[in-house]
Amino acid sequence: MKLIEDIKEKARKLNKRIVLPESTEERTLKAADQVIQEKLARVILTGDPEEIFTMADKFQLKNIGKAEIVNPVSHKMKDQYVDLMVEIRKHKGLTRDEALKLIENPLYLSVMMIKNGDADGEVAGAANATGDVLRPAFQYVKTKPGISVVSGAFIMIHPDPSFGENGVIVFADGAVHPDPTDKELAEIAIATAQTTKSILGIEPRVAMISFSTKGSAKHEMVDKVVNATRMAREMAPDIKIDGELQVDAALIDAIGKKKAPGSEIAGRANVMIFSSLDVGNVAYKLVQRLGKAEAIGPVLQGMAAPINDLSRGCSVNDIVSLVAITANQSA
Ligand code: ACO
Repeated sequence: MKLIEDIKEKARKLNKRIVLPESTEERTLKAADQVIQEKLARVILTGDPEEIFTMADKFQLKNIGKAEIVNPVSHKMKDQYVDLMVEIRKHKGLTRDEALKLIENPLYLSVMMIKNGDADGEVAGAANATGDVLRPAFQYVKTKPGISVVSGAFIMIHPDPSFGENGVIVFADGAVHPDPTDKELAEIAIATAQTTKSILGIEPRVAMISFSTKGSAKHEMVDKVVNATRMAREMAPDIKIDGELQVDAALIDAIGKKKAPGSEIAGRANVMIFSSLDVGNVAYKLVQRLGKAEAIGPVLQGMAAPINDLSRGCSVNDIVSLVAITANQSA
């Protein structure tokens, strides 16, 4: 897989600090060992060092000694992180006692390390549910300036190179925000275009997907996509974006020419933005399972620092690839 190899090569050069809070989860610890072996990032593990080394011995992992291990209970920066947490969340009523409990949770410790500049990114989710991984990130790391919503992109790699960019198409949102407003949908389109450019080095051609092409149907769900397309163009005039387009008009040249003549995206889209999580999540899974495409992600976008959530069914290789992607995002 040349794409992943290129992402790994860039990660090696960046040498970022990536924290893996689920350190005693078997696949995560094995992935940490592989990341260190392949020199993809500097690994930070959170947990009790004795427990981590016992597990590393059990799985015969040779590289875990090279990771930085941060104990959530006795960490030297604990008080400083607690002060920062209270400062950020006092308007929500967070007390020091509550913060002292939260910081012993590795998922909170990891985001506070990032917030304080002591780590560059995080990968978690092999053992925890999406909400538990994302909530601390939303609350303390927050979104990038100009973006109000975090979303999840999937890099779809289809065996037929005539689709997208040599078979690569980026889908969003397939993972996070259930029902975006018009403006949030515009932001998701812009964030996905940026992800496509920064991680894949591909010039994005964004299609705003609907069941209508250029006014072929009238409905408030179509209006949402039309409005989001207009807003995205106003917010990011440099990005090539068009809508509303049906999937066939976005993907297939002859149909694009017929249904949306003159569009520079129709028939050539390499980014597809779906109007809700319902559509985006179903679309990526259908393309993955029935279309036999490979799906990499979700790559979370819009956050002020890269924090990525794994599926609980992930493999060691999935974790290693997501660490490399996270390192690229933090560049
Ligand atoms: N972007 C930025 N901030 C957000 C977002 C978002 N998308 N969603 C919530 N927040 C913020 C809120 O504003 C709030 O901030 P505040 O505490 O400062 O006021 C904080 O996060 C918590 O908000 P809640 O609404 O309480 O969020 P909750 O934790 O309940 O839900 C979640 C967030 C878990 C992401 C929810 O939207 C969700 O369940 N999404 C679907 C996830 C999912 O199941 N995806 C499909 C499966 S993934 C797959 O198939 C690979």
